[in-house]
Amino acid sequence: MKRTHTCGDLRPEHAGQTITLAGWVQNRRDHGSLMFIDLRDRYGLTQIVFDTDRPEALKLGQEVRSEWVIQATGRVLARPPDMVNPKMPTGGIEVAVDSFTVFSKSAALPFEVDGHAKVGEEARLAHRYLDLRRPAMQANLAARHRFVHAIRETMDSLGFLEIETPVLAKSTPEGARDYLVPSRVHWGRYYALPQSPQLFKQLCMIGGCDRYYQIARCFRDEDLRADRQPEFTQLDLEMSFADEEDVFAVAEACMRNAFKSGIGADIAVPFPRLSWKEAMEKYGCDKPDLRFGLELSDLTDLAGRVEFKVFASAIAAGGVVKGLAIPGGESFSRRELDVELLEVAKPYGARGLAWIKISPDGGYGGAPVKFFQKEQIDAIRDRLGAKPGDAMAFSADQARVANASLAAVRNYLGQVKLGLTRPGEFKFAWVTDFPAFEWLPEEKRWQSAHHPFTSVSAEDVDFMLAADPSREDCGLDRVRSAAYDLVLNGSEVASGSVRIHDAKLQEKVFQVLRLSEEQIRERFGFFTEALRYGTPPHAGIAPGIDRLVAMMLGCDSIREVIAFPKNAKAFDLMSGAPGAVDERQLRELGLVNLEKK
Ligand code: AMO
Ligand code: AMP
Repeated sequence: MKRTHTCGDLRPEHAGQTITLAGWVQNRRDHGSLMFIDLRDRYGLTQIVFDTDRPEALKLGQEVRSEWVIQATGRVLARPPDMVNPKMPTGGIEVAVDSFTVFSKSAALPFEVDGHAKVGEEARLAHRYLDLRRPAMQANLAARHRFVHAIRETMDSLGFLEIETPVLAKSTPEGARDYLVPSRVHWGRYYALPQSPQLFKQLCMIGGCDRYYQIARCFRDEDLRADRQPEFTQLDLEMSFADEEDVFAVAEACMRNAFKSGIGADIAVPFPRLSWKEAMEKYGCDKPDLRFGLELSDLTDLAGRVEFKVFASAIAAGGVVKGLAIPGGESFSRRELDVELLEVAKPYGARGLAWIKISPDGGYGGAPVKFFQKEQIDAIRDRLGAKPGDAMAFSADQARVANASLAAVRNYLGQVKLGLTRPGEFKFAWVTDFPAFEWLPEEKRWQSAHHPFTSVSAEDVDFMLAADPSREDCGLDRVRSAAYDLVLNGSEVASGSVRIHDAKLQEKVFQVLRLSEEQIRERFGFFTEALRYGTPPHAGIAPGIDRLVAMMLGCDSIREVIAFPKNAKAFDLMSGAPGAVDERQLRELGLVNLEKK
């Protein structure tokens, strides 16, 4: 037997037993005639002791170095009360080593595998297997396991079948570029790695599987950020004879059970809901952080009646004036308002951020004040719910810019500057009634706001069928889709929709997206054909597992909850992927020297 216990098992009640442990040497404290090693495995740390009672073991032990893998047999000793280490679960005992074996030695380490050492991410990723030994990474992977396990149990209990779908597939559009795999057998043809199993899960519904799910790997060649990886994992699910209410209930059950099992948190369900329109009005974005208020208000009607050029010219150009109250903002300096907050808003197109302060006695200060009568500012103050001691910040611009700028300012105030969030606080919400289509001004065409298989709201179907999609002003931007997002603390964590189950409507949507008959046949022909053979109404969703687990654990990046992630340039610093391949392989694939094989 290689071990009788793990390094996390032993307690004072084991005192007197002879046991065997195996693990990595975390550190070694040598006092000459007495030596301590902290032995580590996934389960914890145990202190083992070498002394002059067993001189041979002591002598051998003194050669041991960090991260060697050893096995030690010895007696469990209860520590005297003054030697107990209450910080370690095994701190009540130590093991007096009688004999031990070195399984393998370790070369000099590129960094210390110690919970406390600060190590740069590049180094961690280049030797990820060493990084994984650190207790923090072990804890993250274990929490992710519990999270996914709870999802599997929940889905099983609700009658969902776990079905695997192909990774070598045809392109499914989700808005990113595809990763392509050249075919050796069919020169000049390529598989696409799935951006999601979207079409296959709908085909499962047409195939009568009724309730499908998969812990699915998705591949997207897109620009990466802290919350994006080129390959990532979704809980992908789809249900027949179901609408959004059914999908919400399943997703809520999964989130509740997964957070409970992951970190013991109690998530309140059902989640609140708000329409896309309401989200844009109150929070300026479609993924509001609901851990704090700081709601925006539209002031266009109040602010337009004055001589302040900044406001008047924005409104004259078809824009809006929106604002929010900053609690306690009266104490902000000019630098904080005119530089710090403006810098937050600028990336979203803001050209300025006007403000008015309300002094403790209710008086007003700030550049715009002289252009208003007092009653006009009173009305703005009342709409924003601002009080003496607060400031009011305004953005005057096209609605898109004003909303996005103030949404960024709101998040910065709530999450950073005013510190209105607490660790371990999880505010989920459903956002519904998204617009179905967005106009791409540069390409002069419409694109699906979710994906092309999303149904449009029943009341808008006839209007959509009649609209002339070649024009920007055809009103398609007012068509609502049957799509919904799940947001958590200001991030989108899941997205889904009720699907089109009618072949004609599906073809219309493709036409709106300006796909030619030929493109439709070539790219989705198999799917539009399937829709013609009896398709149940169906709906689904896909929560992003990496993002959810990272947020659950309070990690800054999803890389912290992925065993072997790529860096921000989609590069694997450990294996060197993507790597060069030899010419023979390229020739076999028909990618160079197209002479006969
Ligand atoms: P969508 O493209 O919105 O929808 O993706 C769903 C969820 O997947 C996660 N996600 C990502 N996580 C990490 N890295 C990425 N690059 C990445 N991209 C997306 C997010 C997101 O909310 N087929 C549809 C779902 C459906 O309609 O059922 C889809 O894939 O958490
Ligand atoms: P100015 O008249 O350019 O000195 O601007 C007066 C105030 O209005 C300053 O605080 C600017 O930051 C602000 N401001 C400028 N443009 C805008 C805008 N589009 N929306 C809101 N405030 C603005």
